[in-house]
Amino acid sequence: MRSINQSKRSVLLVGALVLGLILFIPLRELTHPARADDQRLAQTPPMGWNSWNAFRCRIDQQSIRETADAMVGYGMRDAGYRYLIVDDCWQTGRSQDGLIHASTRTFPDGMAALADYIHARGLLFGIYTSAGQLTCQGRPGSLGYEAQDIATYAAWGVDYVKIDWCFAEGLDPATQYARWRDAIAASSRPMIFSISAGGSPQPERWAADLGQLWRTTDDIRPEWPSILHNLDTTAHLSTLAGPGHWNDPDMLEVGNGDLSLDENKAHMSMWALLAAPLIAGNDLRNMSVTIQSVLTNPEVIAVNQDPAGLQGTIVDDTGTGLQVWMRPLVDGSRAVALLNRTQADAPITALWEKIGLPPGEAQIHDLWSHMDLGSFQGALTLQVPAHGVMFVKISSNASVTALSDLVPVAANNGFGSFEIDRSNGEFASGDGRPLSINGQTYPRGLGVHAPFDASYQLDGRCSRLHAELGVDDEVGAAGSVTMQVWADDQLLLESGILRGGSEPFVIDVDLHAARQLRLVVTDAGDGTEYDHADWAGAYLSCSQ
Ligand code: GLA
Repeated sequence: MRSINQSKRSVLLVGALVLGLILFIPLRELTHPARADDQRLAQTPPMGWNSWNAFRCRIDQQSIRETADAMVGYGMRDAGYRYLIVDDCWQTGRSQDGLIHASTRTFPDGMAALADYIHARGLLFGIYTSAGQLTCQGRPGSLGYEAQDIATYAAWGVDYVKIDWCFAEGLDPATQYARWRDAIAASSRPMIFSISAGGSPQPERWAADLGQLWRTTDDIRPEWPSILHNLDTTAHLSTLAGPGHWNDPDMLEVGNGDLSLDENKAHMSMWALLAAPLIAGNDLRNMSVTIQSVLTNPEVIAVNQDPAGLQGTIVDDTGTGLQVWMRPLVDGSRAVALLNRTQADAPITALWEKIGLPPGEAQIHDLWSHMDLGSFQGALTLQVPAHGVMFVKISSNASVTALSDLVPVAANNGFGSFEIDRSNGEFASGDGRPLSINGQTYPRGLGVHAPFDASYQLDGRCSRLHAELGVDDEVGAAGSVTMQVWADDQLLLESGILRGGSEPFVIDVDLHAARQLRLVVTDAGDGTEYDHADWAGAYLSCSQ
């Protein structure tokens, strides 16, 4: 247990403890304030379904109604997916007064009736248009009709508008989208404003001030490189996200194309970690049970919907495609994704110091298997499948307690009273000096004198004792002691003989959740003269 460079190690330890305590500040205070203009919409990332990824232009009222039924029947609504959004290709033209029309062939009952159908199922209704002359599929766009279209949508019962950026060459997106923001604000109906200008350069520069969500990328495809591309493009924008305003790396491709189950789970996990809107894009009517369980996993959705609204970030990267991502959650725990971008299974390690947890034990919960994986000390290594993630929640219940803050239930000291955060000194109480072993001083700890014997009642709350042991420098090269740690009448550690001037003996003892901790100092068999022993830098990891 003797360390090669004890003094440096002590400095590092104190530094790590202080850093751990700073990082462990509850995150409640760090949540973002809501914006004044957001009508308290989208306080967590919007969840829903959109027709584009699965259907493209092959939409009609029948398939949309069946999708609404599937959202209810397959538990999507109850899992949180509330918005059913009809994307491009519902429009055919305008009447002379400018009123936009849905296709009477594909939507014969009109959009108001469709909205009623959707609302009757406890869902909300979303619709698509473009800020330019035409939509991306060449249907009538909304340029010049912003206020009229919003009024029409409101009359139909629309709750969410996705405004694209096609056939808008030469226009300034910030100016055009501000018109939409104003039209929505003037409408009697609350509507989520989804800015879909992923193709335009750096939409986040202006869009973050206007809508509840804004596309950060070009169109997603149901392919692994596309998912990683949209993840990476959105990752560095984390400071923009928060309640009422979210980065949108595009709609989910879960269940589409040839994505493997691991890829689907990784996609879903990383969108949860990014606090991305979860807008499903598969054919819900023909979804497998497996895909349904990926989309409706309550623990992954809870991470996505965490009320602190902090977007996760990458915290460690081997540079070889093995990465650690972390999202702080409102309760102080962390959602951690071990992401394997490579084509081979591989172990990935998350270090507590990288994910902002204090040193010591933390509990690991697997968000996909719903299993507790147990307690880990300082780091977690898991085998991660190729093109996959392990997605876990890590909760540290450790708080670091200085031993000298605890009051022993019994204590006997060989010469006067033992001292708190001081050396033993002479007989009088409080007459010691700063704790010091071999030139290294310590702000916290106990200064005692052999024979010493003290017991602390821990009642199973503490897992580890960390300390540096030795004879205090106040007696020079004199003095010799042995120091022991006992837990519930079991000797856990014995230091061997420690002499004045020798380097500190560093201990890090697993207390096995003992009820009682007992610390003993003997005279090492040669009488008690000058036996001033220090339990220096002594800290316990205890549950709160
Ligand atoms: C753009 C958008 C897509 C979809 C299509 C519809 O490509 O980025 O999400 O809305 O238009 O034409």
